[in-house]
Amino acid sequence: MSVRRLAPDPVQPASFAFTAANENWIDQQIAKYPAGRQASAVIPLLWKAQEQEGWVSRAVIETVAKRLGMAPMRVLEVATFYTMFNLQPVGQYYVQLCGTTPCALRGAEALKKVCEEVIGPQSTVTADGKLSWLEVECLGACCNAPMAQINVDYYEDLTPANFRQLLDDLRNGRPTKPGPQNGRIGSEPEGGPQTLTDKALDDGSMIGAGGWQKRIAEQRKAAAEAAAVKAAAEAEAKKAEATPAAVAAKPATETAAAARPQPSAPAQPSGAASDTPAAKGKVEKKDVAEAAKPAAVDNVTARDESKPELLTAARGGTGDDLELIWGVGPKLAKMLNEMGIWHYDQIAEWTPAELAWVDARLTGFKGRALRDDWIAQSKKLATGWRPESKLGDKPAE
Ligand code: FES
Repeated sequence: MSVRRLAPDPVQPASFAFTAANENWIDQQIAKYPAGRQASAVIPLLWKAQEQEGWVSRAVIETVAKRLGMAPMRVLEVATFYTMFNLQPVGQYYVQLCGTTPCALRGAEALKKVCEEVIGPQSTVTADGKLSWLEVECLGACCNAPMAQINVDYYEDLTPANFRQLLDDLRNGRPTKPGPQNGRIGSEPEGGPQTLTDKALDDGSMIGAGGWQKRIAEQRKAAAEAAAVKAAAEAEAKKAEATPAAVAAKPATETAAAARPQPSAPAQPSGAASDTPAAKGKVEKKDVAEAAKPAAVDNVTARDESKPELLTAARGGTGDDLELIWGVGPKLAKMLNEMGIWHYDQIAEWTPAELAWVDARLTGFKGRALRDDWIAQSKKLATGWRPESKLGDKPAE
């Protein structure tokens, strides 16, 4: 921290006065404080004076003291304590170059040399009045070190070359772009994300958290599938009830229901009433119930014609590593092998119906094959391509 003194007498102006607009602004600031507490506005007033003049001279201190009814010494104490107040004249572009450790490690020393070459010694203004500079402590932009504050803007990720160019642009009135000078946005890592890039972290599966997002998705999908199966079964049942056989059997069914033995009554011998209309109605009722059965068994039976090609063993005695398919773990891989599925090219050739056939048999994992698009994944794997992670490459949502 440098010693902060007022500028030497030769550079001190004889007087200072706020502009009319600033006088108006000052009145509003002072009005914010209770009577007798006007001194609380000392920092806003000093700041406004610095905005107007570029620095805080002795005349500014005396004017502010008078305006607030303070001893000039008290205002001087404030002005010399806070480094944001410039006690020396500054250029039109005032460069505050950070020289603290992170910036120093990233090249601030070389930037200081640029300042000395282009501007001159610290706290001196160039002959054209355009530039002056000062080394300051950390300005809180260490992620983008080295950096400098020029007037109210931060310029970061500076190099001697781009800093020299920046000073030249400012001096010659060319537009400049505050912020990082190396193309990155904010303080993001150069070249894009460098950490936590493994997609397996997204659902916690890497740490064995079980993939709660997947579980919820599976539960939702299973619920939707169950609802679809139920709706299909109900539609099937209605259709079956509308067939002539079902219509003809209806009275008999009702008769049979009326004649059905109560739980406490002894059961009829099996063949005794097999020819009776009631029994016949029972048979028809059973057919209808069969048609309406919504269980997975129906589902599986209906899809049997969509059964994909299954093998009795892996070709050449070795199957592909099915765990490279995203969503397939050791348990599912074993289940697939037991089904007769060993190779990527087998899965790659499935039709949607065959995929559904397999999906319906993935006990505990139903819907997984469709959700994770095993066909597309296997097509890629069958070409010889391999994912970066041994968990596979998560398909896009
Ligand atoms: S060390 Fe330079 S901004 Fe923090």
